[in-house]
Amino acid sequence: MKEGTGTARKALWVDLASNKSTEGANRKELMSYTHPKSLEGKAVVVTGSARGIGRGIARTLARNGARLLVTDILADDLETLREDMTSHGTDVHSIAADLREPDAAERIIEEAYRKFGAVHGLVNNAMAIKPPSPLECQTLADFDLAISTGPRATFALMKAAYPHLVSAGGGSIVNFGSGAGAAGEPGFASYGAAKESIRGLSRVAALEWGADNIRVNVVLPFARTEGTDYWEQTDPEAFNAAVNAVPLKRIGDSEKDVGALVSFLLSDDSTYLTAQSIFVAGGSGVSR
Ligand SMILES: NC(=O)c1ccc[n+]([C@@H]2O[C@H](COP(=O)([O-])OP(=O)(O)OC[C@H]3O[C@@H](n4cnc5c(N)ncnc54)[C@H](O)[C@@H]3O)[C@@H](O)[C@H]2O)c1
Repeated sequence: MKEGTGTARKALWVDLASNKSTEGANRKELMSYTHPKSLEGKAVVVTGSARGIGRGIARTLARNGARLLVTDILADDLETLREDMTSHGTDVHSIAADLREPDAAERIIEEAYRKFGAVHGLVNNAMAIKPPSPLECQTLADFDLAISTGPRATFALMKAAYPHLVSAGGGSIVNFGSGAGAAGEPGFASYGAAKESIRGLSRVAALEWGADNIRVNVVLPFARTEGTDYWEQTDPEAFNAAVNAVPLKRIGDSEKDVGALVSFLLSDDSTYLTAQSIFVAGGSGVSR
């Protein structure tokens, strides 16, 4: 069988999935992306985990053995996730919070410390995303929303987590950027500005906190969410063009693509990796 043929790829996928094809399988049967115990003993905070990519990340981290504090502004969806994960045996706690509130970061990190007695990882995934519009139509309120839920929240959570990461002997922070900022994309002025601010913050933190054995990396994803489902329904032509522009010709999966990368970045498999921006976008994604 030739490497790279459809049959070879399918065989590899079945093998990776522990002899279970994911086609038609329910989520409970899915493999542990990366390896099942890679996060055992680690207490991790994931923001924006009630839906979308954050929920996918939380599920993958749980499968790999992490203890989780999930948080989001959407209290009901968050509770649904917590109940589901608890029923699958995850040590998971939740705290509903609006990251724009001044005390949110401290409350979230303190809750994680109270429940687990340590914090080893922080995933700053949450961000409020508004529909695209031309720069001249965006308001200062739009800009403030992007900044307050993006870099400002990331900054506050990183600072709140820092003493706990130091006491744990080090840890890993995963922040979220976007190609809309790194390469630039019309319609995303406030969002793109906020996302690039997160990358700048992450680079400086990685340099300053390296001596504390705290690693800081940025993930720039392209993955299916409720938002991309809506995009596909309302503008299938644009959605399909975007997916076709991806070299791997598909949209990513929040659990097996983005979750797996985040899990790796939080694990001891990546202890020499810091200050990096990593696209998990099927080969698309350029920084200017
Ligand atoms: N989906 C993609 O393809 C894509 C592409 C590039 C970058 N990203 C980035 O990846 C991350 C996840 O994206 P997504 O598509 O899953 O987004 P999403 O909008 O589906 O989810 C974001 C989560 O953040 C939460 N949130 C929003 N405002 C909040 C607030 N004030 N306080 C607390 N929580 C709040 C939301 O409730 C939601 O659960 C984001 O940082 C996003 O910018 C996603």
